[in-house]
Order: sequence, then C-alpha cells, then structure tokens
Amino acid sequence: MHKLRICKILLLTRSGLRARLSGKADKPSTCFPYGSAKLPKDLSKPDIPLEDWWCPQSMAYGFQGFSYPLEVDNCSDPSNSFESMNKDFARMKADFGASIVRMYYPTCLNASVFENALRAGVANDMAVIFQVWTNFGIGDVWKQSQQAIYDVMDSAEYGHIAPYVVHSADFGSEPIGDGMDGGGDQFIIDLGLFRTKMNSYGVPAGISEDWDRPDWISGPNGVGLTDLGEEVKANSDYCHAHVMPFYHGDLLVNETWDYIQEQIVWLNGTVNLPTMITETQWAWGPTSHYPDKSDVGVSQYTKYWKKYDDECEYLKKFNIGWFLHAWYGEGTFDIVFDNGSYVIPHWRPRKC
Ligand SMILES: *[C@@H]1O[C@H](CO)[C@@H](O)[C@H](O)[C@H]1NC(C)=O
Ligand SMILES: *[C@@H]1O[C@H](CO)[C@@H](O)[C@H](O)[C@H]1NC(C)=O
Ligand SMILES: *[C@@H]1O[C@H](CO)[C@@H](O)[C@H](O)[C@H]1NC(C)=O
Ligand SMILES: *[C@@H]1O[C@H](CO)[C@@H](O)[C@H](O)[C@H]1NC(C)=O
Ligand SMILES: *[C@@H]1O[C@H](CO)[C@@H](O)[C@H](O)[C@H]1NC(C)=O
Repeated sequence: MHKLRICKILLLTRSGLRARLSGKADKPSTCFPYGSAKLPKDLSKPDIPLEDWWCPQSMAYGFQGFSYPLEVDNCSDPSNSFESMNKDFARMKADFGASIVRMYYPTCLNASVFENALRAGVANDMAVIFQVWTNFGIGDVWKQSQQAIYDVMDSAEYGHIAPYVVHSADFGSEPIGDGMDGGGDQFIIDLGLFRTKMNSYGVPAGISEDWDRPDWISGPNGVGLTDLGEEVKANSDYCHAHVMPFYHGDLLVNETWDYIQEQIVWLNGTVNLPTMITETQWAWGPTSHYPDKSDVGVSQYTKYWKKYDDECEYLKKFNIGWFLHAWYGEGTFDIVFDNGSYVIPHWRPRKC
C-alpha cells in the first residue's frame, strides 16, 4: 500500500516533469515564468497542478535573465540576504524584462542562501536556477551545498512552493572541467542520484558546462560526444551550455557570432536536449580572466550582447534561451557598474 502510493506520486511528478520539458501546458499565457502566472506571496503552494504551472519549452528562447554571483561564503553577509536579492531581482525584471535568475557560485553552504533566493523569486514572480557549489572541484564541499538544496526542498516552510519557483538545478557549474567528484564515473553516479532526487520534487536537473571540450565531452574534432559526454547527457534533463568565444584565441567581438552559431547547431544536433546558454561573456574593460584580451570596452560589450538580441528569431528557431553573465560580482563582465548604473543603459532585450 505504502509502496504503491510512493510509486503513484513518482509517476505524477515524472509526468509533470515531462510536460514541463516538452511543453504541454494548455494555457501558455497564464504560465510561469514567461506568462502572467503569479506566485502566492504567503509561500503557499499555488492552486494549480505542477504540470500546468510551467510554460512550455517552446516559449523558452531568447533572453532569460542574468547569472547572479553569490560569492561571499559568509552566509550572514548582506549579499546573501533576502533584502539584497529582492532588490536586485526587481531591477532585473523592471529594467531588462528578466524572468529567471541563475544563481552563480553560491558559496554560502547553508540552506539560507537558497531560501532567500527562493523568497526573492516569489516576491518578484521570477524563477530561480539552483546551483550546487563545487569549490572549483576541490574537496567535497559540493556535498554540503547539495544538502542545503535538499533541506530547502524538504522544509515545511518552503518545500511546497519550491517546485513552482525552482526552474532547474545544476549539479555544478563546469563540474567536469573542474574535476568535481573526480569528474568521471563517480561524478556520473552522483549526478544521477542528484537528478533522481530533484526529479522526485518535480525539478529538472543537469549540469552547467562547456560542452565544447573536444576529446573530453565533445568528440574528436567536435564531432559527436565522448563516452563521458554521452553519460552526462543520459543523466541530464536539459543542456545548460557555456558558449564562450571570449576565450578562443584573441577573437574580435565582430568575429564571435560564427562560433556561437556553430555551437547552437552542434548543441541542437548532438546534445539535442532542451537548451539554454547559461554562460557566455564579453568584457567592458581588462579582466584577470584574460589579461591580454585586446578587443574589450563598453562598445564591444554592447555589441556582443545586442548581437544576441538581434538574433532572437534564430534562437527561437532552435528553442534556445540565453543568460547574460553576469549581474554584479564578476568584474568587467558585469552589466552593473560599481556605482549601480548599467553598462548598457535603457536596453530591454526583445521577446521576439
Ligand atoms: C549555518 O548553519 C549552521 C548549522 O545549521 C548554523 O549553526 C549557522 O548559524 C548558520 N549560519 C548562518 C550564517 O546562517
Ligand atoms: C559575517 O558577516 C556578518 C555580517 O556582515 C558579520 O557581522 C560577521 O562578523 C561576519 N563573520 C565573519 C566570520 O566574517
Ligand atoms: C571586425 O572589425 C575589425 C576592426 O576592429 C575589422 O578590421 C574587420 O574587418 C571586422 N571583421 C568583420 C568580420 O566584420
Ligand atoms: C532543434 O532545432 C529544431 C529546429 O531547427 C527545433 O525544432 C528543435 O526543437 C530543436 N531541438 C531541441 C531539443 O530544442
Ligand atoms: C558609473 O561608473 C561608470 C564607470 O566608471 C561611469 O562611466 C558612469 O558615468 C558612472 N555613472 C554615474 C551615474 O556616476
């Protein structure tokens, strides 16, 4: 009896997950987070089945929002507070039309950082992507970060609403590139366990990664996937991709779209999962990530991002969303200057 009930619940959440990823929501205009659906501000569970809540995958293209760095490991730091996130999320939405916030490097290892992001998402009717912090693959800090996420999903206060706010959950940002959890067989096992657990809450899971790592994740000469790449794919509900021409030789900004376009075609043909470009960047000034990079500046930065916006129809055709990396905390990659004004002012990416 008990076993049967668990099975049924699992089946229900799985069918909800499928609807969420294939797009069977029958009232797209009221859906979340691209439609008019509003989250209950008292954190109660919305009065709508989970499978009817999320917008269909076919609406998930073009500008999604920002990577949101949370890189202070002191959980009591103001940057990890609800107040600070609430203020930033509101600006992202009002000034740019953002609908999803991608938590980036949440180095506080307590549930509080995920709870505060969830509450700020609710307050602003925005979705949030959870991310397990890997400490660049060093040690097993990821286990504490993962537990903090499970604690929120299991909590009496946040657990009911969480699957309606948490868009997806990444088992690390570039976890393979950084060798998290060994980066091989054990990593794949733990990714599978994370996915099963998140799926049991009704939340899709995967990794955020540079899939273009020839002979490592992508196949030789970028053709197909390696065995490891195939295993990541088999254990993922979606592809969150880092497409980063900034780091390819000393490419000029006006030479980057060819590579981005090539990657879009490759991701679509080879990985072929619901896809978002979660990390892609250009710098408006010198950056320690690539000190000798020559073609940087506010005008180059503006060109880079406006090109993504200009290509909205192309991204729509391939059903690919993108995030601007980053909001504030990654130096000259940020859209927000230290004084709070924007590097690209008065710009609202299109919903084509
Ligand atoms: C983090 O969690 C630990 C253990 O639950 C708790 O003792 C500590 O006060 C928390 N820290 C913050 C800053 O929330
Ligand atoms: C953490 O941040 C709080 C709030 O800013 C501060 O009071 C506390 O001293 C900090 N703790 C550490 C260990 O730095
Ligand atoms: C890119 O810009 C440079 C000048 O910065 C120019 O010389 C070059 O022809 C341009 N390339 C393309 C593909 O437009
Ligand atoms: C791949 O692209 C085609 C159109 O070119 C699109 O119809 C399809 O949905 C894309 N596949 C995925 C998984 O997004
Ligand atoms: C903010 O800082 C940027 C970069 O230093 C500068 O260009 C801009 O004029 C400043 N804006 C205000 C309102 O001070």
